[in-house]
Amino acid sequence: MTTLLGKTILITGAASGIGARTVELAGQLGADVIGVDIRLPATPGGTFVKADISTKAGVDELAAKLPVRIDALCNVAGLSGKTGAIPTLSVNFYGLRALSEALAPKIREGGAVVNVASMAGFGWQANLNRAISMVNVEGFPDVAKVVADHQVKNEECYPVSKELLVLWTFRAAHQALFKGRGIRVNAVSPGPVETPILTQFREVLGDQRVDSDIARVGRAGTPADIAPVILFLCSDAARWINGVNLAADGGLEASVNAEVLGF
Ligand SMILES: NC(=O)c1ccc[n+]([C@@H]2O[C@H](COP(=O)([O-])OP(=O)(O)OC[C@H]3O[C@@H](n4cnc5c(N)ncnc54)[C@H](O)[C@@H]3O)[C@@H](O)[C@H]2O)c1
Repeated sequence: MTTLLGKTILITGAASGIGARTVELAGQLGADVIGVDIRLPATPGGTFVKADISTKAGVDELAAKLPVRIDALCNVAGLSGKTGAIPTLSVNFYGLRALSEALAPKIREGGAVVNVASMAGFGWQANLNRAISMVNVEGFPDVAKVVADHQVKNEECYPVSKELLVLWTFRAAHQALFKGRGIRVNAVSPGPVETPILTQFREVLGDQRVDSDIARVGRAGTPADIAPVILFLCSDAARWINGVNLAADGGLEASVNAEVLGF
């Protein structure tokens, strides 16, 4: 693993699961870490900033508190969908995007944004028209209106949020705000990972879906399987990687692709 010595890395979702492990590993690799979460972490690493990215005010307040120079932003915070479409789309997509856009001027030339999407966003191509329309709503919108306009049901809001995130990652990688400053924008898509959110996925998606995904690849992932992938994309070793959605899922996406494509 390449060193992150001297880099300032901002990691949302720092209090739990994948974000907490990413904070720990980034520190071990020499980064100056700024963790962000709505909850306090049990064991804070580096600097911690408490913030709520589900509202425009929360994002603006956070952006104003952050230093002028950041090397990478890891958008890890997320909701499972259990609390409904409005909070889920606010955190998993519109808040994440607003934070990334607000911080772009603070990210150094050659820096990186890494979005934690999900295998749950696999349907972005099948649902392309809706995803494009929802991504095209600019800024931090009235999310209740977006949900109503696009008839997003609570039970589908998590996959929808990740479909938007995958699509926006492709777009942002080519937008002047990022590309014009040499900032790479990539996504990591985990399959099921043993964290507190997985219990909620079982409630939202059903045990059968989660268990069948785990059975396809032999085990659930752990935060330690995902954190190095996120940090690789932050590092200079990934300097020629831009606009990809990297599956970190033990082969789950490949298995589903083989089934869908019939080979
Ligand atoms: N665990 C999995 O199976 C899995 C699979 C695919 C993708 N993911 C994604 O990985 C990311 C991390 O999830 P995790 O598994 O570590 O879950 P987790 O529940 O352990 O961590 C999510 C963190 O996000 C924080 N958060 C939620 N709302 C926030 C807000 N408004 N402002 C700031 N922070 C907020 C939570 O407090 C929590 O610490 C999420 O984006 C999730 O969708 C997880």
